[in-house]
Amino acid sequence: MQILLLQSSNLLLLIISFFISINIQFCLCGEDPQYANCRKAINCGGIKDIGYPFWGVNRASYCGQLGFEVQCLDNVPVINMVNTSFRILEMNPKNPRTVKVARQDYWNKICLQSTLVNTSINVSLFNYASGLANLTFYYGCNTSTPSTNSQVCTINGSDVSVAFPQTGDEHPVANYTCKTEVLVPVFKTAALALENNQTSIEDAVDEGFELGLQIDNDQCNYCEGSGGTCGYNNTTTTQGGFVCFCKDQPYAITCAVKSDQTGCT
Ligand SMILES: *[C@@H]1O[C@H](CO)[C@@H](O)[C@H](O)[C@H]1NC(C)=O
Ligand SMILES: *[C@@H]1O[C@H](CO)[C@@H](O)[C@H](O)[C@H]1NC(C)=O
Ligand SMILES: *[C@@H]1O[C@H](CO)[C@@H](O)[C@H](O)[C@H]1NC(C)=O
Ligand SMILES: *[C@@H]1O[C@H](CO)[C@@H](O)[C@H](O)[C@H]1NC(C)=O
Ligand SMILES: *[C@@H]1O[C@H](CO)[C@@H](O)[C@H](O)[C@H]1NC(C)=O
Ligand SMILES: *[C@@H]1O[C@H](CO)[C@@H](O)[C@H](O)[C@H]1NC(C)=O
Ligand SMILES: *[C@@H]1O[C@H](CO)[C@@H](O)[C@H](O)[C@H]1NC(C)=O
Ligand SMILES: *[C@@H]1O[C@H](CO)[C@@H](O)[C@H](O)[C@H]1NC(C)=O
Ligand SMILES: *[C@@H]1O[C@H](CO)[C@@H](O)[C@H](O)[C@H]1NC(C)=O
Ligand SMILES: *[C@@H]1O[C@H](CO)[C@@H](O)[C@H](O)[C@H]1NC(C)=O
Repeated sequence: MQILLLQSSNLLLLIISFFISINIQFCLCGEDPQYANCRKAINCGGIKDIGYPFWGVNRASYCGQLGFEVQCLDNVPVINMVNTSFRILEMNPKNPRTVKVARQDYWNKICLQSTLVNTSINVSLFNYASGLANLTFYYGCNTSTPSTNSQVCTINGSDVSVAFPQTGDEHPVANYTCKTEVLVPVFKTAALALENNQTSIEDAVDEGFELGLQIDNDQCNYCEGSGGTCGYNNTTTTQGGFVCFCKDQPYAITCAVKSDQTGCT
């Protein structure tokens, strides 16, 4: 009798603990929907880690800062700037957050430009990282062969020449006039490899270049450190409204309680 009683109380305990665990599970899964949405990176072209301050595609606008919109075009994550579009090759989501981008119009087709525009970035959103150099593409020069190692291709019957930055001021078309020139940033290492004939102009351009982001990295690190995910407070009247989305609710700076990052998704 005593044994039976003990067994049934054990069973009761088991049932109670079962319901408690279900309840806990429900609590953990009742995530703030903004937190759930903003924790996800942009899903486009298999490029990982495109997160805050970027938004667009599957990330709601409140997941990123104004201006950092990404579009997914033909499975390529693209940022549009004034006259140029850039494809995102990579994002470093850790401090400091940076993106590696390449000019979309020069990607895989350095000789098929329909319009010639210089690379321009919105300096209130981005800055050029260090370790870059500009290649100068010269178009419409009045010569067929300005210099043997700089001739790239022919457009409209005239050669396109590229000046490598490492050679300093040595203009490959010094004694000729060209209709226009276009500056395209590349990594210094790629520019150096180019001069040493270790890479092609196309590969150097396709390697892209790095941009820093004009955001408060510390603010976002602080939020992420508390288990939150960074976002945009769209009800603030002042620009650059920040919000820290946490599992339970949004907070201004950090999560009140450290969220369990290995919780349900
Ligand atoms: C640069 O970005 C800011 C923030 O989104 C925007 O207000 C401004 O119009 C942009 N500038 C240009 C030249 O597009
Ligand atoms: C954009 O292109 C137009 C025409 O080529 C040019 O006049 C303008 O200065 C360019 N804007 C920027 C920010 O480069
Ligand atoms: C690009 O910039 C260079 C140097 O600033 C300038 O000489 C050239 O005309 C610009 N090209 C275009 C297409 O605007
Ligand atoms: C490349 O040219 C742009 C536009 O003229 C300039 O802002 C940038 O600083 C240059 N980059 C380097 C590494 O010289
Ligand atoms: C080539 O010629 C076409 C037709 O005249 C013109 O529209 C185009 O802008 C030219 N391209 C270059 C790169 O000069
Ligand atoms: C340009 O012309 C000058 C004088 O004729 C000559 O010394 C120089 O080597 C030429 N530069 C190039 C790149 O051909
Ligand atoms: C190209 O134009 C420049 C300036 O107009 C002139 O000095 C030079 O002789 C021309 N070169 C050729 C090959 O026509
Ligand atoms: C690169 O190749 C060009 C053309 O073949 C040659 O003139 C030049 O000396 C080479 N440069 C190096 C650093 O090997
Ligand atoms: C503002 O953000 C909230 C989430 O924080 C979202 O539900 C709402 O749709 C957003 N409003 C606008 C106008 O974007
Ligand atoms: C968002 O901004 C509004 C207006 O400034 C403020 O009242 C609200 O508390 C902010 N939200 C958070 C989560 O900080």
